[in-house]
This record gives sequence, structure tokens and C-alpha cells, in this order.
Amino acid sequence: MADEKLTQIYIMGKAYDVPVGVTIMDAMEYAGYRFIRGAGCRSGFCGACGTVYRKAGEYRLEFVLACQEMVEEGMHLTQLPFTPAPRSDYTLAELDPSENVLLQHYPEIARCVSCNTCTKACPQEIEVMDYIQAALRGDVAKVAELSFDCIACGLCAMRCPADIKHYHVGQMGRRLHGVADLATPEHLTARIAQLDGGAFDGEMETLASASLADLKAKYAERVIEKVQEPEVATEEVAT
Ligand code: SF4
Ligand code: SF4
Ligand code: FES
Repeated sequence: MADEKLTQIYIMGKAYDVPVGVTIMDAMEYAGYRFIRGAGCRSGFCGACGTVYRKAGEYRLEFVLACQEMVEEGMHLTQLPFTPAPRSDYTLAELDPSENVLLQHYPEIARCVSCNTCTKACPQEIEVMDYIQAALRGDVAKVAELSFDCIACGLCAMRCPADIKHYHVGQMGRRLHGVADLATPEHLTARIAQLDGGAFDGEMETLASASLADLKAKYAERVIEKVQEPEVATEEVAT
């Protein structure tokens, strides 16, 4: 490469020269992509930026978060900002956590073949297979504990040979654990009372009636990481 500060990657089959030392997300923006979907917090918390790539000469597909993974020479990549994984419908208050409700709502967890692919796929380094096994045993406290840092990126569910929707199972486990085993925090009770008493109605009305220009100004003033402007904005990622 003539310019050592640039490296070549392929986004959906098209070659781009992008700066070295930036994330995949920044590299895509540098290349001219504007994110409509597939970007959120830009800090590894929201799970919106699932991305898959394979490097020239390597057989493995890699699954990563675009905002966390640094770009590397020869990456062939595309974004997967959404995992088709419908969530089971339930009303929490009507469930009996002493029964194996996780298995009833997500019977596919019984198909787990203990391959550990989900754990290896997880960018949060969560013991995903272990929380699925805990779900199978009906141990909601263990599911809640092990899945606590899940950001619902879906990367585990994309690779599971048993078609398990891990993050929905984990979320249901945490909810059941919260209802069945944990006391309601005082600060939450106090905040709900504030909401019910209309403590924030004025602020909400101010926002709802603000002009577009005022909303834009407030948005621009928010405290957040600076976003680098793309140099060429010619294509959009609207998956
Ligand atoms: S990837 Fe699926 S089948 Fe394999 S261990 Fe994880 S949950 Fe089980
Ligand atoms: S458990 Fe699955 S959905 Fe949750 S962070 Fe890990 S890979 Fe993403
Ligand atoms: S943009 Fe939120 S995790 Fe990447």
C-alpha cells in the first residue's frame, strides 16, 4: 500500500482504503457509509453493531461489534444489525418462576448440544452456554447472574446450531429472578411515585412542544463522545 496510514478493506464486496488504527465503524464512515441502523452507543453497550468478516486467506467467519473491533488489512465485512429472533410473549406477573417457565417459553433450549459456539461468539465474554444450561435446569438466579452483561447483540443466536435465542432466554431469566427473588429497590419505588405524581410532566411537555430547531440544539449540546464526520457521504447502510 503506497500510503502506510491507509489500509484496504472490503465492505460488502467493494474495496476501500481506510485509516489504520480506527474501528470498523469509523472506517465504514470514512468510506462514506452513513448509519441509519447498526449503530447506537458506539461504546460496546447497545449491541446494535453486529458485524461479520472474513480475512483473505482465512476460512473462519468472525463475528464482532463494529464499534469495538479495530479495522485490519484485507477484512471482507458486512453488517448484521438485526437478528431474526422473535421473543416469546408473556405477562411476568402471571408466571410462576418455580415452574420451568423458561423451557416452556423457549423449548428449543432442550436442543442444546453443548458445542460452546455461543460462548466463543460473545463479545462480552459471557458464559453463554452455561446460562442456557442453567435455563434448562430452571435455575433463574444462575441465568440472571451469568447473563447480566448481555447487550442483546445477537451474535450468539446467529451461530447456534440449535437455533436458540439466547438473549431472550437471559432477559426472561433476569426478569423472573427480579420478580421472584429480589426486593423492590427503594429508589425505584420513590421514582415511580415521582412519575405518578407528575414530577416530570412539565419537562416532557416542554420537550414535546419544542421547535425542531430547539430540539436540534439540545441534541447537539448533549454530553457524548465526539463523532468523526465522514469525508465522503455517498452510500447508506439501511439494513
Ligand atoms: S451454540 Fe447453541 S447448541 Fe451450542 S452450546 Fe450454545 S446454546 Fe448450545
Ligand atoms: S450473550 Fe449473545 S446476545 Fe448477549 S452479548 Fe453475548 S453474544 Fe451478544
Ligand atoms: S454501537 Fe453500541 S455496541 Fe456498537
